[in-house]
Amino acid sequence: MEFFSENVFKNWRRKLLSHAKGKILEAGVGTGKNFPYYPANADITGIDIADKMLPLAEKRAAKLGLAVKLMEGDVQSLSFPDNSFDTAVATFVFCSVPDPVLGLKELKRIVET
Ligand SMILES: C[S@@+](CC[C@H](N)C(=O)[O-])C[C@H]1O[C@@H](n2cnc3c(N)ncnc32)[C@H](O)[C@@H]1O
Repeated sequence: MEFFSENVFKNWRRKLLSHAKGKILEAGVGTGKNFPYYPANADITGIDIADKMLPLAEKRAAKLGLAVKLMEGDVQSLSFPDNSFDTAVATFVFCSVPDPVLGLKELKRIVET
């Protein structure tokens, strides 16, 4: 099932992430399934509320030769200043965020110009 769904999702991931530019924050990075689809030399910071995901994301990034900054964090309360990123990404995350509107406002805050 995972194999079939990822085969469908990879086209969505490729299309979505082709728009990512500049300093990128990925919230709910998980195991880093989006990493292969970012533009070359993307400047990516990934956060996840579950710190056990981070070593898996780190491993995937290393395999792909990506220098990704990874840290524990909650999309509802980001530790980054206003306007500190150019792109915010979150895929398959908000279904499990208790206050998704708060999370979306946080993403807006850190990319708003
Ligand atoms: C279904 S996975 C999706 C992972 C990845 N974004 C993807 O597309 O494959 C959801 C991820 O969101 C993370 N997550 C859930 N609530 C979060 C929150 N409030 N802040 C940050 N990450 C969260 C989970 O720990 C999990 O790694």
